[in-house]
Parts: sequence; structure tokens; C-alpha cells
Amino acid sequence: MRVLLIGKSARTDVIAEAIVRSRRKPLLFSMMDAENPGVMRRSKEFCVAKTDDAEAVLAFAERVEPDFSIIDPEDPIAHGVSDALEKAGIPCVAPSKKLGQLESSKSFCRELLRKHGIEGNPEYRIFRSGSGIENWLRELLDAEKGFVVKPDGLTGGKGVKVLGDHLRGVEDALDYCEEVLAKHASVVIEEKLEGEEFSLQSLTDGVAVQDCPPVQDHKRAFEGDEGPNTGGMGSYSCENHLLPFMGREDAEAAHAINEKVAAALLKETGAKYRGVLYGGFICTRQGVKLIEYNVRFGDPEAMNVLPIMKSDFVDVCESIINGKLDETKLRFENAATVCKYAVPEGYPSNPIRGALLEVGRSRARYYYGAVREENGKYVTLGSRAIASVGIAPSLAEAEKIAEEGVGAIKGAVFHRRDIGTQALINRRIEHMKRLRKNG
Ligand code: AMP
Ligand code: GLY
Repeated sequence: MRVLLIGKSARTDVIAEAIVRSRRKPLLFSMMDAENPGVMRRSKEFCVAKTDDAEAVLAFAERVEPDFSIIDPEDPIAHGVSDALEKAGIPCVAPSKKLGQLESSKSFCRELLRKHGIEGNPEYRIFRSGSGIENWLRELLDAEKGFVVKPDGLTGGKGVKVLGDHLRGVEDALDYCEEVLAKHASVVIEEKLEGEEFSLQSLTDGVAVQDCPPVQDHKRAFEGDEGPNTGGMGSYSCENHLLPFMGREDAEAAHAINEKVAAALLKETGAKYRGVLYGGFICTRQGVKLIEYNVRFGDPEAMNVLPIMKSDFVDVCESIINGKLDETKLRFENAATVCKYAVPEGYPSNPIRGALLEVGRSRARYYYGAVREENGKYVTLGSRAIASVGIAPSLAEAEKIAEEGVGAIKGAVFHRRDIGTQALINRRIEHMKRLRKNG
């Protein structure tokens, strides 16, 4: 069994681990934009090249002849790499470029839900020019709702601007819309949802949809949810496969949305979505709503679910490819997980590059992101560097292990100590209680 994996982040590293620990003993071949020491160590052979270049990927794939491939990040999907692999006869666990619009186009996603009567959309409108934008913004404000402005395209997680966070009012929003419309065909302006966010990563063969345990990520750079948004500073999941602020009915509502979206995509395009369907949801006082979709695992959320997956990941990938996911039950350990990222000082706006990190001994597992290895030490490249993951029967214990692990990474990095702690979780529970009481 030979598997080709494409990607360069800590999320790719944890996928690589899930592949090589398979009882099928696969050989791993990997391709990455920049050297990733974690993925490289797990690979029989690797290639550093541009992974959104279909020709470069095909050249490597045709040489190593994998039984199937997995594309981790969204960029190669948006550039047609999955289509190219499939065309060359190499099955791919990742959707086609067309299906990938679910993430790459915010308007496609909102319209798909609306057209197919799938619950979960906030109020939204799509604009192709500036005309009518001001009225819509004022309409939302008059209804005592905030607003969110979303460029209709991939922006590397930096395009969404929220009233109160990045936008002070209508004037700011109008300026930003003008900027967006100069670069993108359209802009989506939607109601600002209030609540607690969670990630539901489902695996699907386009018909059967099976979930990983829900995870909560922490986007803000600093403790107490302060500071700028980041790719995600850390995340946790619970041993009962729910989150402290959500009930079974919320998880079921999110699952139903993912399932209906897979069906709607099939109806709409005639093609089966094969891969990871990651819904970014929010529990609000009106129930579960959809923030956005990603067509890949979450980073860091992949690190909360793959290490506790009891099913053999390679078998699962094969069932996705063969359209037999309904015959395999996806199973996870009843363990809690906490992931904390060590990120370079100055991250995200002005990160130190080239800082030397040493990783000591601890009980945590490490997944390597934006670092290069040099004589047993690691050099920061600017983005999230090394993830420390604690896995234990309880959240408190998992948090201790993750904290011990991230503390053992020495050098010019910082992390959020509060992720996974009871104090922060109590704030989330209180937040949800307050919203539901006012409802
Ligand atoms: P995205 O770039 O689509 O991942 O969005 C980034 C972040 O913006 C999300 O994680 C949310 O915190 C926030 N966001 C996006 N849409 C909404 C919305 N309709 N209401 C409130 N927050 C939102
Ligand atoms: N954790 C957010 C993301 O992967 O997009």
C-alpha cells in the first residue's frame, strides 16, 4: 500500500501519523511547499515543490505510483490538483475544484444552503457592486443585528471582517467592501451571529457522512480571547464527544447540516464529495448556525481527532474512495484532548523568523508546523511552529499534559496557557447560558 500525502503543516503531520500507524503498513510519500520535519520523518520519500502546481504534483505522483492520495490544504484543491490526480487514475481523498467552491466561494456556500432549504444560514446578501450595500448594512443595524463582511474568494483566513472587531461601523464596512470588490467578483454581507463556535469535521464519500468528535478552536492570539485573529492557537475536545456548552441535539443539528450539504452538492453538481467536510458552526440562542465550510481538516482541530481515531485511517480513506463509508463505523476513543500551539514571538503580525527552538522531554505528543530542522533543533519560519497535544481520560489531565509539552519548547515562542482550562471553559458555559436566557 502506497499513499501520497500533500501538505506542509502540523495538520499534515498528524495526518501522516494516522497513515503510518495503519495496520496495513503503508509506505508514505509526501509532497510539501516547504520542508516539514515531522512529515519528512514519517515518509519513505518526500519532495519539496509547489503543491498547487498540478504538473509538479503529477510528475511526483506518476513516479511513486500511490494507491491513493490525500490533499491536506485547500489551495491545491482550488488549483485543480485533485482533478488532475483523478484524471491520471490516482484516487484522491479531497474534493474536486468544483466541489471545493464550498470553501473557496462564500456565496456558493450560502446559496447552496438556501436553494436546498438547509437550515443554518444567517441572513445574508451578495453584492457584485457597491449599489445597495449601505441600505443592507443599515437594515441589519435597525434590526439590532451586527454585520460581517466576507470577500467571495480564498483569502488565507484573513478576509472576514466583523463589526465590533475589525469594523467600527457602516463607514468602515463601506470602505472595506470597496476594497474587496476591487479584487473579488463579489462580497457577502451577513448578520453577525452571537454564540460559541465549534468545528464539526465529518468524513464523507459523498453520500454517507460520519463525524469526528466536535472541537473548539481559539482564534485570538492572546489569553482571555484578546488580540488579533490567528489561524488558531489551540483547541480541545471532550471525552464524551460533546463540548461543555453544547448538547447532543446541537451535535445532531450540525451533523444533519453536513449530511444535507453532501446530498445537495451531489444533486447540484452530479459529483460525490469525497473527503473532509469541516463545518464551522456556532451555537446561538436560535440554535446551531453555519459560519462557513472548509474542505479539509481544521488546523489545529485535526490534532484533536486523528490521534484518538480507533478506526484504521487507511481503511477509512479506502471506503471514502470506494463509496463504502456506510459499511465502516468511524470510532474514536473516549478521551479528552487539548492542543496548544507554540508560535513565534510577534505572531501573527510580526513574527520572529529564524529563532532556534529546542524541544525537551514531556508526556505530550508533538506535531511540527512552520519549522525547519537543524541539528536536532528547530528554526521558526514565521507561522504556527509546533503543536503540543495532551490526551487523557479527562480534560483537566489532557490540559496539564499539553501545557507541560508546550512548556518544554524553549526559544522565542509563546502560547496560550488558558486553552483547555476550566476557567476559560466556565466563561464559555456562562456565555451560552446568558444568550439562551435572553432568548
Ligand atoms: P472565516 O475566515 O470564514 O473562517 O471566518 C473567520 C471568523 O469570522 C470565524 O471563525 C468567526 O469567528 C467569524 N465569523 C464569520 N462569519 C460570522 C458571522 N456570520 N457571525 C459572527 N462571526 C462570524
Ligand atoms: N482552525 C481553523 C481552520 O482550520 O480553518
